[in-house]
Amino acid sequence: MENPNPKFLIFIPLLLVTNLFTLFIASTYYSSNCIPDFNITPTTTTTTTEDQTLPPEFIAATSPQRLPLGFNRNFDSDTIQPPAGSACTLFPADLRRFMSYPVNGSCPDDELLSQRLLLKGCEPLPRRRCRPAAAPESSPPTPLPESLWSTPPDDSVVWTAYRCKSYTCLINRSRLQRGFDDCKDCFDLNGREKHRWIQQQSNGLDFSIDDVLKTRKPGSVRIGLDIGGGVATFAVRMRERNVTIVTTSMNLNGPFNSFIASRGVIPLYLSISQRFPFFDNTLDIVHSMHVLSNWIPETMLHFLLFDVYRVLRPGGLFWLDHFFCVGDQLDKVYGPMIESIGFRKVKWVTGKKLDKGPQFQEMYLSALLEKPFQNSW
Ligand SMILES: *[C@@H]1O[C@H](CO)[C@@H](O)[C@H](O)[C@H]1NC(C)=O
Ligand SMILES: *[C@@H]1O[C@H](CO)[C@@H](O)[C@H](O)[C@H]1NC(C)=O
Ligand SMILES: *[C@@H]1O[C@H](CO)[C@@H](O)[C@H](O)[C@H]1NC(C)=O
Repeated sequence: MENPNPKFLIFIPLLLVTNLFTLFIASTYYSSNCIPDFNITPTTTTTTTEDQTLPPEFIAATSPQRLPLGFNRNFDSDTIQPPAGSACTLFPADLRRFMSYPVNGSCPDDELLSQRLLLKGCEPLPRRRCRPAAAPESSPPTPLPESLWSTPPDDSVVWTAYRCKSYTCLINRSRLQRGFDDCKDCFDLNGREKHRWIQQQSNGLDFSIDDVLKTRKPGSVRIGLDIGGGVATFAVRMRERNVTIVTTSMNLNGPFNSFIASRGVIPLYLSISQRFPFFDNTLDIVHSMHVLSNWIPETMLHFLLFDVYRVLRPGGLFWLDHFFCVGDQLDKVYGPMIESIGFRKVKWVTGKKLDKGPQFQEMYLSALLEKPFQNSW
């Protein structure tokens, strides 16, 4: 890579001497005449009669692209097929709205639409060529380590997609708003959040981080993943113990990803449907609280558990924290499924989930599972 890309060198003078709107190139394929091969034609706007056709920007984003330097042995191909979730095209109307924007302009402020599209199965979302909605002005983040336990400034968030329009409202909502919200009281860092995973509770289901780390050689738990980790307090507590955790989270009626980033730990905007973006046998720990439970279709959960096993290194820990289900599902379905993956049980505690009332017969399982050091394959 010692030579600058010759195409780029030619592009710069072109940029200077031409009105760029004369540079429309219709073909999505690489053209060999040294003219930059991107298309900045604004896409056509939505009309209801066209809802069954795919938007031009989606086609541009996902069409096969010829590799400029030809056949690549690593790819075993001369072409790259830019990915988007295979289910994207099942929702042409939403996809059309998502992919309709001025190229090189501002994206629509459409977080709600894009998250719904993603959750339905259009994951990964296709890339776009526009700038995402952002607050008109934002202040720099609170510095570490204060950021870990401070409420970030409101101007770090685009609030359009959420019922609350400020962090004060999110902090107040468990007291002042009716109805269910995912992780409703999580934004209040001085409330319940402060005590999670610090002390073992009497019910035996709440393991403490220190008890879990004590099962390993000091320092041997270094990196990991928290699946559906709310506001990433698990990652913050682990960081305080020199463990680096990335946290997957959706923005379900709250700016979870922005909040996690403002705290100074890493949010991964990834649903539970998606293959984990880690290589085999790499992570020391995978944790998940509440999100893994009986709302997930069984086959999907089976694949997910194998994916957890895949990314954990031999000797790595899977901390399944408060998995819940109803009645005899634990004995009949989920217990056997989890046991069948190949983990060794370090801890396995079941108990009744009583927050909705005993008549719902809900059950919890908290387990600490180890991928075997030997013969894990
Ligand atoms: C893209 O947008 C930027 C910022 O608005 C502008 O400066 C630039 O000229 C645009 N480029 C093209 C190719 O239109
Ligand atoms: C939050 O609650 C406090 C105390 O109850 C109240 O003074 C404040 O107005 C509330 N703020 C919002 C945005 O709801
Ligand atoms: C974390 O690492 C720092 C710097 O290496 C060290 O001083 C500190 O004692 C460590 N903290 C814990 C809880 O291990």
